[in-house]
Amino acid sequence: MIIISNLNKRFGSKEVLRGINLKIYDGESLVILGPSGCGKSVLLKHIIGLLKPDEGQVLIDGEDITQFDQKRLDALRMRMGMLFQSAALFDSLTVEENIAFGLRKHTTLSDLAIHHIVSEKLEMVGLPGANHLMPSELSGGMRKRVGLARAIAMEPEIILYDEPTTGLDPIMTCAIDELHLSLKERLGVTSIVVTHDLNSAYRIGDRLALHYGGRIVAIGTKEEIIHSPDPLVQQFIRGEAKGPMTLL
Ligand SMILES: Nc1ncnc2c1ncn2[C@@H]1O[C@H](COP(=O)(O)OP(=O)(O)OP(=O)(O)O)[C@@H](O)[C@H]1O
Ligand SMILES: [Mg+2]
Repeated sequence: MIIISNLNKRFGSKEVLRGINLKIYDGESLVILGPSGCGKSVLLKHIIGLLKPDEGQVLIDGEDITQFDQKRLDALRMRMGMLFQSAALFDSLTVEENIAFGLRKHTTLSDLAIHHIVSEKLEMVGLPGANHLMPSELSGGMRKRVGLARAIAMEPEIILYDEPTTGLDPIMTCAIDELHLSLKERLGVTSIVVTHDLNSAYRIGDRLALHYGGRIVAIGTKEEIIHSPDPLVQQFIRGEAKGPMTLL
């Protein structure tokens, strides 16, 4: 469903993506691991068309979205949800208005119908009744979950999650993982999840990919990754300071 081929991106003299190749199958949850600063968030932003590559393609259902104009990107975003690393809430809007944003922009649903959807999504992320709070009144973990409720509000076919559980306590992390798995089962959602949480990665990932040095250096199931002979993979999953992986 999503095929990324030879994706290259530089910012000034810094080459961030240096030939990313990746396939994400329909209904799959692909986890992307990698050291801080390697370009995981930049990669996600290319998949949703927020950044344009210098070279390469992002094919979604056979169409190269890097060539899309704004109108086609808007249509694409109705099928895709993204949870940004920083949650990226609008600070001047309430929680409800934040979550309702896409529904108001892209659908003709009534205010009451939208209110029901927002309340349902807030319950799903463990924040029932938070509708009227302002983002400034939320803790970091609450902001993250409001961002998640917004990402799933339109029931998109494809969801990109940038560190969905960073900053959440272990119980909430598990609950968000369960939510992820139930969306996958119930709606057949295809997802790409960037995370630094290996337990969570093993719970939700059908496959795990290691992003390093601007490329995908390893990809496989949990078992394949855990038993990988690749020293880069072993250093990363064991969290060892010494090894072939040099940090930025
Ligand atoms: N808009 C931008 N302009 C210039 N440089 C950028 C921009 N966005 C990202 N970068 C640079 O690209 C590199 C990769 O950033 P990115 O945010 O993708 O890292 P990451 O892998 O998501 O890291 P983390 O795990 O810390 O979130 C960094 O060196 C960053 O400074
Ligand atoms: Mg990031």
